[in-house]
Amino acid sequence: AVAQIRFDDRVAIVTGAGNGLGREYALELARRGAKVVVNDLGGSGSGVGASATAAERVVEEIRDLGGTAVANTDSVATRAGGASVVQTALDAWGRVDVLISNAGFLRNSRFEDLTDEQIDPIIDVHLKAAFYVGQPAYRAMRANGYGRMLFTGSASAMFGHAWQANYASGKGAMVGLSNVIALEGSAYGIQSNVLLPTAVSRLADEMDQGFMEIPEFAKSIQTADFSASDGRVVPEFNTPLALYLVSENCQATHGLYSSNSGRYARVRICAGEGWVAPKGSVPPTLEDISTHFDKISELGEFSQPMTVYEEFTAVAAAARKQGVYP
Ligand code: NAI
Repeated sequence: AVAQIRFDDRVAIVTGAGNGLGREYALELARRGAKVVVNDLGGSGSGVGASATAAERVVEEIRDLGGTAVANTDSVATRAGGASVVQTALDAWGRVDVLISNAGFLRNSRFEDLTDEQIDPIIDVHLKAAFYVGQPAYRAMRANGYGRMLFTGSASAMFGHAWQANYASGKGAMVGLSNVIALEGSAYGIQSNVLLPTAVSRLADEMDQGFMEIPEFAKSIQTADFSASDGRVVPEFNTPLALYLVSENCQATHGLYSSNSGRYARVRICAGEGWVAPKGSVPPTLEDISTHFDKISELGEFSQPMTVYEEFTAVAAAARKQGVYP
């Protein structure tokens, strides 16, 4: 049996921890002994407004269960806010061991209609916040030769989801960012991974904007969806993998992981064997590429979802194959 995974003496920052996934991460980190900075600006699901109560409520919940936490109510979408989040940890406990970058919201629209008010704040809260909080957190981790970073990506970015060009761009960039942090951080005991979570949280309300009819093929998947009927799309189902990835036990870095309805899987961006042009310094022609395009395109046996809906189909197939669901 695995010994209980603990976070005693560890200082963890969870951004956007006033609701949904972040709240669950913060509560469970505290239950397992971590000192937690609960950051949340307290705005709406589309990133409007601010309120201190979201973060403060979760801090109270943690204290009620005997844990240790402090609130930070600044926006991670600004350089100053990001610095303040990390400073809160340093002021309270003098170190940072764990960063879960999780804050975010949606502003969905068709690609051709996206305005700057829908693009810039989304890039700021998902991508730039990862720098604003990540850089000072990295410096603090580097000073102690230990750190665990987890960035929140999305299946929307990796597999595709209509009407989320802004969001998918910000989330997709997490992968490049995390890969480079993993490489640079390896000399200092800093690991970095990306999680693609799935949950029905208040973000789900932002998905339904009238003009976004659910495609016919997706409806059938949704109605047959085993996970929703079984309650496996609650935020809590993402916590075990997220927290494992930021634990001392975890030695994995430079990774991308999916947590979807109780199926936990590594996701990879892969390349096939490909076709190698004949020896020599003469480049192949377009016609050579055309001739060998099947070989170039071959990937062997990979599940490669092309949309978020297709990932659900693959999850359902895996569940059936493994006898988890009929
Ligand atoms: P949520 O809306 O329940 O929680 C997000 C929290 O982030 C909110 O409490 C909000 O106040 C906070 N926040 C927003 N902007 C902030 C800012 N500038 N500074 C500080 N806090 C801010 O949403 P949920 O579902 O828990 O989402 C958590 C993360 O997971 C987000 O990054 C989201 O994009 C991502 N995600 C969620 C999925 C899902 O299925 N729910 C799927 C894929 C990714």
